[in-house]
Amino acid sequence: MDLPQSLNTPALAGTADLGPVILALPKGRILKEVGPVLARAGIVPAADCLNEGSRRLRFETSDPRLDVVRVRSFDVATFVAHGAAQIGVCGADVLMEFDYPEIYAPLDLGIGGCRISVAAPVGFAEAEDSSRWSRITVASKYPGIAQRHYAARGIQAEVVHLNGAMELAPALGLSSVIVDLVDTGSTLRANGLVETEVIAHVTSRLIVNRTALKTRPEEIGGWIERFRSALAA
Ligand code: PRP
Repeated sequence: MDLPQSLNTPALAGTADLGPVILALPKGRILKEVGPVLARAGIVPAADCLNEGSRRLRFETSDPRLDVVRVRSFDVATFVAHGAAQIGVCGADVLMEFDYPEIYAPLDLGIGGCRISVAAPVGFAEAEDSSRWSRITVASKYPGIAQRHYAARGIQAEVVHLNGAMELAPALGLSSVIVDLVDTGSTLRANGLVETEVIAHVTSRLIVNRTALKTRPEEIGGWIERFRSALAA
């Protein structure tokens, strides 16, 4: 059967018509740490890409085969899982929360180190015997991680899903404890909370859409190797 001309074009068998690979980077604290990794991988994004003040969201790089998009940290995983971006830099916290089967995380970039922890008001842990709890209210932007953490201890967690400022929740009666990222601990201290349990240590990973890796193996595999070499450098 004769294929329509558009499907019979040799260029479509390769990757030339698929456009640049899209690398999704997270806004916020990790963005500053990503810059040196990109530099070691030989990726030079447009000057305003690593500047949080820029309102642009998509940036060209020194390589016409790669563009960068800058999105919220949770959304990096969503863009990559859906194939809207083929690769990304994403915290292990986000991967733990969503556990997307479409995402392959081949490299620990060793940046963005922090932990995901339970925190409670000062004195709460001493006043409460946690071994006797059967229910607890938790404020978190990680409802899945919080539920699983307490379920493994036989405790039913009622999670109040917030997107930020969860350190306010215990004092305002929204929850007993919070589950959140802790880096320096200064946000907890400033809000009268103490870390009571570390759930997991977190770093940022290079993530890849599995389908893109199958359909564009040389390109995507090449970018993974560039990042791998950057880590070795
Ligand atoms: C995270 C986290 C804490 C804070 C912890 O928020 O939710 O609020 O950092 O850092 P620290 O231990 O060094 O004080 P982030 O600043 O990433 O902003 P977000 O609330 O938008 O997630």
